[in-house]
Amino acid sequence: MGAVPAHVAIILDGNGRWARSRGLPRMVGHRKGAGAIQRALRFAQNSGIRALSLFCFSRENWNRPAAEVHGLMRLLDVLLRRNEKKILAGTTRFHWLGRPDGLGEPIVRRLQNLAKETARRDSFHLALAINYSGRDDVLRACQGFCAAGAAPACWEDIARRLDTGPLPDVDLLIRTSGELRLSNFLLLQSAYAELYFTPRLWPDFDETDFQAALDDYAGRRRRFGSVGDS
Ligand code: IPE
Ligand code: MG
Repeated sequence: MGAVPAHVAIILDGNGRWARSRGLPRMVGHRKGAGAIQRALRFAQNSGIRALSLFCFSRENWNRPAAEVHGLMRLLDVLLRRNEKKILAGTTRFHWLGRPDGLGEPIVRRLQNLAKETARRDSFHLALAINYSGRDDVLRACQGFCAAGAAPACWEDIARRLDTGPLPDVDLLIRTSGELRLSNFLLLQSAYAELYFTPRLWPDFDETDFQAALDDYAGRRRRFGSVGDS
C-alpha cells in the first residue's frame, strides 16, 4: 500500500495533563512520557522509518516554574546516563537539535559525545530536540554563513547548516494532546510535511496510535505544489 515516511517528527505533548487528570504531580507525567519515548523509538526502528525527531524540551520551556524545569533537567540527565551505553553499543545515529546555553556542562557533553561517536552510522537516525526552537535553528544557521563569509546559494545549502544537517525533510509531523500548533519545532524542515494531530496524551501514545498515524500518512496524496486532480 502507501509509503512509509522517511522522517517522522513528533511534538510530544500532554504529560502535565496526563498527570493532573490522575491527581498526580506533573513530573510523574514527564517520567511516564519518558517511557513513551522509548516505546516510540522501538516502534520507529521496526517500522521502516529512517529518522525520528522528538521535541523533548523547547527554548520556550525555560518559562515554566523553576521546580519543573529543574525536574526535567534531572530526568534528562538520568535518562542520558542510563541509555548512553546502549546507544553507543547499538546501530542508531544520534543527533542533538538545539543549543547548549542553560543545559549545564554534563548534559551538553553527553549529547555532543553521543552525536560524535555515532556520526558514521546511517541505518536509523534519532534526533532529540533539547533546548531547541525552529527560529533559533535558522538564526544559528545564518550566523554560520556570516562567520564563514559565504552566502547560501540554494535551499540545500541552508538545510545542511540547520541542526538536522544530513536528515531528509520531515515527511510526517505528529502532535499529541489535541493541540493544533507547530510551536516553533522544525519549521523549515516541515515545509512539506503531512500534519497529524491526535487527542491522545503523550504518555498514552503507543504502538497502535503510531501505526494509526502511519496508516493515515499512507493514505495521503502528497503533491508538493502540483495539481491535485490527476
Ligand atoms: C510535554 O508535556 C512535555 C514537555 C514539553 C517537556 P507538557 O508538559 O507540555 O504537558 P501539558 O501540555 O502541560 O499537558
Ligand atoms: Mg504542553
